Amino acid sequence: MGNLIFYGSDTVELAKKYGTPLYIMSEDYIADRCREIRENFLEKYDNTMAVYASKAFLTREMAKIVKREGLGMDVVSGGELYTALNAGFPMDKIVFHGNNKLADEIEMAVKNDVGRIVVDNIYELDLIEDIASKYNKKANILFRVSPGVDAHTHKYIQTGQVDSKFGIPLNENIIHVAVRKAMNCKHIELSGFHFHIGSQIHENEGYVLAIKKMVELMKELKDKVGFVTKELNTGGGYGIHYRDDENRKNVAFFTDAIMNTLEEECCKYSLHRPLVIIEPGRWIVGEAGITLYTVGAIKEIPGVRTYISVDGGMTDNPRPSLYQAKYDAVIANKIGEKPVKKVTVAGKCCESGDILIWDLEVPEIESGDILAVLATGAYNYSMSSNYNRNPRPAVVMISKGSDRLIVKRESYEDMIRNEI
Ligand code: LLP
Repeated sequence: MGNLIFYGSDTVELAKKYGTPLYIMSEDYIADRCREIRENFLEKYDNTMAVYASKAFLTREMAKIVKREGLGMDVVSGGELYTALNAGFPMDKIVFHGNNKLADEIEMAVKNDVGRIVVDNIYELDLIEDIASKYNKKANILFRVSPGVDAHTHKYIQTGQVDSKFGIPLNENIIHVAVRKAMNCKHIELSGFHFHIGSQIHENEGYVLAIKKMVELMKELKDKVGFVTKELNTGGGYGIHYRDDENRKNVAFFTDAIMNTLEEECCKYSLHRPLVIIEPGRWIVGEAGITLYTVGAIKEIPGVRTYISVDGGMTDNPRPSLYQAKYDAVIANKIGEKPVKKVTVAGKCCESGDILIWDLEVPEIESGDILAVLATGAYNYSMSSNYNRNPRPAVVMISKGSDRLIVKRESYEDMIRNEI
């Protein structure tokens, strides 16, 4: 019997110190994943780059950790770029994504010399050319292409080429025209291509198939357009452990397959292997985080179900209600006690769909217990909302048994701060 110790910190003590709901992030876990990427990808293969997809979790403190760990960063909005800038993140290691970047976002990127802008469509190309010419700069870009590979469901399925809001279809008439156009832009340097096939992927087939298509494209462009691809960004998507039916693979499981396929395919067509970029988000932070809640109301419907309600919910973790995502959880102050029943964990929002976990085995449970939902480090804080005017929880970073507040809890005053 005891308390949940998460990477060296007593979670029940953290709940007492900072209150609940509370996001806890382990800096040691994040540093470990970054080290794994350095050792098994960056140091193993030359001409490679790894960027952290900051949409998974971003604060200034996170940007500083990523910088220290030697990775670059993928941003998808002015807000993420601003956070990186404000944290002193090196702009040459930024990859700027987005299917509808606004003129002021592009301006911010160009002015600050971000390393790469991933261009999603031809409209954006014109916008970048205009803005870069205004500042008399040359913007380094990659084209995002949709390779017609969809790995969202764990197995790859070929989709209709155009059926995605992201990227330029791999269609000769479209992509060749785009490349020719970029080559003629005075203020744009086209370095290569990007693809991203999906998220929470546990197999390699999708990456392998996409790379084969990309290398065919590289060959075609070299022969027909005279364009030599210098960089290939293979996106993120590496899956993690949420519950016992899914495990997190070593980064090498993905990157070795990516690199081997690319070497083979390039060799087949006598092409130089381009610089390779990877951009995992979830894989770096997902399991670094847990969320602590206090159990409040417990309602037993005899013969039907027991609901335990917590002091957060879909506002701090929208993934179960958005994607039917499944999470595991433990009663943090009753570790080691035998499970005696199944409960349903409900959030406090005015929505029947605000259920965090449908069936959770728990020991004898009572109001005041601390529930720790596991693997909430990715796409929780970053997707949180103020629905029902619930203030967002605080975020605490832990490392080697010490803890520090990195985002303070929102107040009721924050709920009305922008109102006139
Ligand atoms: N690169 C690009 C271009 C992306 O669009 C994404 C994710 C990533 C990298 C990072 O993917 P990751 O390694 O984290 O799987 N909100 C959803 C996930 C959306 C992912 C969108 N793009 C969720 O909570 O599952």
